[in-house]
Amino acid sequence: MDGQRPYVEIYEEKKALGHGAHGTVVLAMNRETKHLVAVKKMNLGDMGDEKERKMCHNEVMLLRSLRLSCPNIINYVESFEEEGTFYIVTEYCEDGTLADHIKERRDQGSHFKDTEVFSIFMQLLIGLDHLHGKKIVHRDLKTQNIFLTKRSKCTQVNPQAMVGNSFLVKLGDFGVSRAMGTQTCALKTVVGTPYYMSPELVQGTPYNSKSDVWALGCVLYELITLKKAFPGDNLAQVVMAIATGKYEPLPQGSLPELKQLVQGILVCDPGRYAPFFPRQVQVCCPAVPVRFAGSLC
Ligand SMILES: Nc1ncnc2c1ncn2[C@@H]1O[C@H](COP(=O)(O)OP(=O)(O)O)[C@@H](O)[C@H]1O
Ligand SMILES: [Mg+2]
Repeated sequence: MDGQRPYVEIYEEKKALGHGAHGTVVLAMNRETKHLVAVKKMNLGDMGDEKERKMCHNEVMLLRSLRLSCPNIINYVESFEEEGTFYIVTEYCEDGTLADHIKERRDQGSHFKDTEVFSIFMQLLIGLDHLHGKKIVHRDLKTQNIFLTKRSKCTQVNPQAMVGNSFLVKLGDFGVSRAMGTQTCALKTVVGTPYYMSPELVQGTPYNSKSDVWALGCVLYELITLKKAFPGDNLAQVVMAIATGKYEPLPQGSLPELKQLVQGILVCDPGRYAPFFPRQVQVCCPAVPVRFAGSLC
């Protein structure tokens, strides 16, 4: 699509990075520049109908429109459609996903420091605000779709986005994202257990930017506690927990600002985000984009 030469001529595949809903993601190296990239490979033959095929084009269209526009959003490189396979090439994030980091911390029994929690949260907020400012809803915000790279690799980007932390955090996987104004249907397929689904979504209300903010609240809760905000052994239990909106209180020692943030976001009635959320975030970090107020009203 973007590339003039075939994918295999340009890239040499190194190893598998992960498996997603529609294919595999591999680490590859540009044969000329030696730059490492991540390539999402989707077999169009397996994808059944034309509608699903359009998802690949949609993801590329959104990634292209976001290219180089925000350091907290994964950067698109190019894409190819060749012999029934769709390749989406993006920057490689060598420190993996936030899900990996949370798991590692849980295994070690060591929580993130408050400064780390704030840094990761703020970077996600900047990325999400940028997305919403461009009238795009992510619709699958979760720790597996949040990527990390070392700060030292990113000296060319906006230093504000790094707020005293060693990682640059990026939103990725726009596979089910939508430009607002296009169909706002509910997610067709939910992969795994829907820990990050908002109460509106579990009640069947169409997706909007508030649902992304809810998911961000769930990620924040998980960063603080290393536990899911709405856990459950099966889909029914998780859905029930979300519908009631009740979550285990944060530990006694948690920073009041973090408690307020979580309380402000994980509110069952979405109408209540608007007056609370932007103000609280601004109290915690005055540099937060004010535009969030708009996307929450
Ligand atoms: N840019 C990247 N850098 C490092 N690992 C990645 C990258 N993109 C994807 N991965 C790995 O592949 C997995 C699936 O990628 P993702 O883009 O989320 O696709 P899917 O739509 O299939 O979920 C991720 O959870 C992660 O483990
Ligand atoms: Mg994913």
